[in-house]
Amino acid sequence: MRDSKVKTVGVLTSGGDAPGLNAAIRGLCLTGINEYGMKFVGIQNGYKGFEAGQCIPLKSEDMDNLLVQGGTILGSTREKPFKNQDKIEKTGLSAVDSIKKFYKKWGLDALVVLGGNGSNTTAGLLSDEGLNVIGLPKTIDNDIVHTDYTFGFHTAVDIATEAIEKIHTTAFSHSRVMVIEVMGHKVGWIGLCSGIAGKADVILLPEIPYDIKNIAKKIESNKKTGKNYSIVVVSEGAQNKEESKLDKKAFKKARAEMGCSIGERVAKEIQEATGLETRCTVLGHLQRGGSPDAFDRYMATLFGSTAADYLARGEFGKILVWQNNQITGIPLRDVASQVKSVKKDEPLVEAAKKTGICFGD
Ligand code: F6P
Repeated sequence: MRDSKVKTVGVLTSGGDAPGLNAAIRGLCLTGINEYGMKFVGIQNGYKGFEAGQCIPLKSEDMDNLLVQGGTILGSTREKPFKNQDKIEKTGLSAVDSIKKFYKKWGLDALVVLGGNGSNTTAGLLSDEGLNVIGLPKTIDNDIVHTDYTFGFHTAVDIATEAIEKIHTTAFSHSRVMVIEVMGHKVGWIGLCSGIAGKADVILLPEIPYDIKNIAKKIESNKKTGKNYSIVVVSEGAQNKEESKLDKKAFKKARAEMGCSIGERVAKEIQEATGLETRCTVLGHLQRGGSPDAFDRYMATLFGSTAADYLARGEFGKILVWQNNQITGIPLRDVASQVKSVKKDEPLVEAAKKTGICFGD
């Protein structure tokens, strides 16, 4: 057994689930147990469960199927303890004080948080409160700054790409325009990557406001050149040029009042502008479900296992990120409250444009 600065470690998953979470838990626990003799406490249902004192032991024998299992065995919520003003029923304390209480009660020496932007922001705040915290980058949205990899993204892009590919054949058979709505409220990485890989004609992203006239032009030019169908990939957060001028509150209100999804709205707009029969498929949570692909399995294993090494060395207050083909630990506060969005000059956007894909701008 190698030396370790910690003995007992809490683990929690927070935010939207993502393929690879269980593989990361497995990598962490097996390395921690086998190499350093650590003990792991699985905190259930994210920060919400931490506040309420919900936990289970995580042992070697629980790790058997985790490499391939989708979702998270620990459960997840989108709880933000630093924003929760309620007293927690079980403790009568504030959300943050309840967490501190259970951290102490369970004898934790450290906490590993597997989460996205919001969850790692909270992890940083808990670290400021004196807890020994390490964050791991999980999100299908790929929107954590300073990392080229977040587990779940690769699998989600694979799922979306496969779905787009399938839509091609039915679009061709019926000479239709097909709109496929993919996840990504704030950022368009899934739309961009699956749109390119799935051979879309049009890709609409939150970062590049569209004008329906430009989309109609592209679809009509497809027709003129003998292509009887068109494929349009739309991120959940896509917006037109007028909407992009609204402030956050007004935009949210307009979306709430829209009465349909953005994909359905774009399909209607295309049909009105071109007169062509248009259908919409919303992929939704399919993109987060099921087993991680091979890439997410081995990368999540590497991240989990490396987190155990960081714990053993007592390197806390960090999130592990992927930079220049290796894992490095950077301060949690460096990623707090930021979003990695698709830049207009992103090479993938430029390559897509050069190969004929329209972004509606
Ligand atoms: O986890 C990120 C994400 O999948 C976004 O892409 C999507 O907009 C959102 O979660 C959906 O969240 P929920 O499952 O809470 O509806």
